[in-house]
Amino acid sequence: MRHALFRRLLGPHVETEEVDPHTVQGGLLKSEEALVDGAAQTRIEQFTAGRVCSRIALGRLGVAATKPILRGEDRAPIWPPGFIGSISHTDTWCAAAVARTEDIRALGIDLESSTPLKEALLKRVCTPKERDWLHELPTPGVTGKIVFSAKEAVYKCQYPLSNQFLGFHAVEVELGEDSFQAVFQQEAGGFKPGDVISGRYLVEEGLVATACELHR
Ligand SMILES: CC(C)(COP(=O)(O)OP(=O)(O)OC[C@H]1O[C@@H](n2cnc3c(N)ncnc32)[C@H](O)[C@@H]1OP(=O)(O)O)[C@@H](O)C(=O)NCCC(=O)NCCS
Repeated sequence: MRHALFRRLLGPHVETEEVDPHTVQGGLLKSEEALVDGAAQTRIEQFTAGRVCSRIALGRLGVAATKPILRGEDRAPIWPPGFIGSISHTDTWCAAAVARTEDIRALGIDLESSTPLKEALLKRVCTPKERDWLHELPTPGVTGKIVFSAKEAVYKCQYPLSNQFLGFHAVEVELGEDSFQAVFQQEAGGFKPGDVISGRYLVEEGLVATACELHR
């Protein structure tokens, strides 16, 4: 059994839940079922795991288990009023993190397998500055995967505030030992060039996990 990853990456205002999508107990609410009608089995499993984890975590904040978590046209989850969250899944692990909007403005989490990012993707995802320092490392591909995951977490975090799609070069990531800073390179909603979203990461048991939260 894998250890919980996101409890260690997020602060005390955030509730998290994680599960192997193949062994998830519980199911979708009727209105959620329609969102994956006709989808592949793997997608249904992962979507279900995300909703079940979200419901368990929201339950700890007092939200009734009858509240569906629907999806906007932009594919972002629609959280119950007064709550915010983020979901991520891979073939082997799924996680959700949620909080009250009175405590947390925005939240983003991401999971990836810790296999190296392929050179072609490294070029797409990383700015020339990021590529320069990555190529000085003994394992640029694995560290590149952390950068990729951090950008996905930041994207999910900023989206409810900016309502904007952002390309991978919209932020530049600087990595510390177990933390990261994503520096905006362009405007996005209320974010200006130079603004920073900070987060934390870990690499464990074949996974990269990244998370960021913006406080009130
Ligand atoms: C949306 C995206 C970030 C999802 O990441 P992923 O690694 O492909 O998949 P994950 O399993 O980690 O996350 C999927 C979940 O993200 C959530 N999500 C999707 N769109 C979202 C959005 N606009 N905002 C917030 N969350 C979103 C959903 O909950 C989804 O799961 P669900 O469909 O089961 O509810 C990614 O597909 C994408 O479009 N990236 C491009 C933009 C980007 O990352 N830019 C980086 C620079 S900031």
